[in-house]
Amino acid sequence: KKVLFASSECVPFIKTGGLADVVGSLPKCFDKRYYDVRVILPKYSCMKQQWKDMMQYKTHFYMDFAGQSQYVGVLECVYDGVTFYFIDNEHYFTGDKPYTEHHWDIEKFMYFDRAVLSALPLLDFRPDVIHCHDWQTGLIPVYLHDSFAGGDFFRGIKTVMTIHNLKFQGNDGVEQFKRISGLSDYYFTIDKLRTGVDGNMLKGGLVYADAITTVSNTYAEEIKTQFYGEGLDGLMRARANDLRGIVNGIDYVDYNPDTDKNIVVRYNYDNVLEKKIHNKRAIQAELGLAQDDNRFMIGIVSRLTDQKGFDLIAYMMERMCEQGIQFVVLGTGEQKYEDMFRWFAGKYPDRVSANIYYSEEMSHRIYASADAFLMPSLFEPCGLSQLMSLRYGTLPIVRETGGLRDTVQPFNQFERTGTGFSFANYNAHEMYNTVMFAKYIFDARRDEWNGLIKSAMAQDFSWQASANKYQEMYDWLIG
Ligand code: ADP
Ligand code: GLC
Repeated sequence: KKVLFASSECVPFIKTGGLADVVGSLPKCFDKRYYDVRVILPKYSCMKQQWKDMMQYKTHFYMDFAGQSQYVGVLECVYDGVTFYFIDNEHYFTGDKPYTEHHWDIEKFMYFDRAVLSALPLLDFRPDVIHCHDWQTGLIPVYLHDSFAGGDFFRGIKTVMTIHNLKFQGNDGVEQFKRISGLSDYYFTIDKLRTGVDGNMLKGGLVYADAITTVSNTYAEEIKTQFYGEGLDGLMRARANDLRGIVNGIDYVDYNPDTDKNIVVRYNYDNVLEKKIHNKRAIQAELGLAQDDNRFMIGIVSRLTDQKGFDLIAYMMERMCEQGIQFVVLGTGEQKYEDMFRWFAGKYPDRVSANIYYSEEMSHRIYASADAFLMPSLFEPCGLSQLMSLRYGTLPIVRETGGLRDTVQPFNQFERTGTGFSFANYNAHEMYNTVMFAKYIFDARRDEWNGLIKSAMAQDFSWQASANKYQEMYDWLIG
């Protein structure tokens, strides 16, 4: 069975968030005897030369798009046993980031979606299923339904649309949308691509895909409600029979404290209680924080956006610092949050370290060093950072939403079970009380804390179980 993932990002080639981790780590986890899963991506000029050097030219052609004849180059490479295809076009995929200005991004990914389908007959790989990820690939099911459906080559190809984040939909004014996508008036009614005065790429994918998935069970339920539905909750309810949640995993080879080259002292389930502390000491020294094993250290690795609950943290930061908690923050995003952390780092240099940049290595060191990991998201389709924390024995403190609710078991002090700490309402005081409760267990009941570290590390969030669920879905679609 042949499956083609279409995505705008994928590790190790290009990453802005968890989508890249998923698309980069899931394809190699399928049973290779039965499933040939490949990936198609844009070839961005900002990709590292190292990756560009691996790509081999396959073919090129010209395609009519947005009133012009556009070049479509196709490149190929095999990495870690998986075949990757890249769509090359220097008009669209330039710049130092994969995403830039809103309207331009819309045009760029409309081009990508059309180019993917146009390139298919030249790949020597006719997929049974095209598995689309997020709004950037939302027009693939629509184009497939439209003009392409006529050709024999395309007949019977099934599509899956996976929602990694319903907040981003790729919408643009209807006239502009029509002109660039080339889709006819027929598609611009509210039962198809239209939302309000806009055309909407993700909605197109969600209407025309044969199956819809999202990245946790709880999020699959939440998006049928108005609060989480981002205006598409009605559609989610209407398609409830075709919508299922399949929780994300992480790459257990890349994220393994026993072999991780980025961390100072490696450790595993058996020796975590003796060895993990060396990483905390090292990061305190590296970042100029107070050198103290008993200071409760909270790690944060995140896009600094409202989604992730930073307004709650901002509201309580002063009080948490007054309690002597150490914060090691790594992230970029909204200016107000970047500045907030810089300000606290200035005021409390022994307690707060604000690392306002992107670094894979530093993220691993934080997952390995901190005592707890704070992620009080407003909404969270799945979340991977808390899974990475669990893997490194760093206890997540989360809000009970989406994948956070499905993957972190709150500490139960009577039964002595759990893998972290959680609170229900999006409320700064609730978050603060939960942080302080975790600190109390760390300070005063260290045996129980250590028990939680063990249960966290005993969890299995590798891909296998979820890859099996995707396989079942492909089987069902292909028949
Ligand atoms: P989202 O996709 O919503 O940003 P996830 O938790 O699914 O959230 O995935 C975030 C991914 O991005 C994780 O792999 C995390 O380690 C990584 N990440 C976020 N910010 C940074 C940063 N500043 N430096 C390094 N890695 C980061
Ligand atoms: C999105 C979501 C995040 C999820 C990731 C991968 O970026 O915000 O919760 O883990 O996609 O599915």
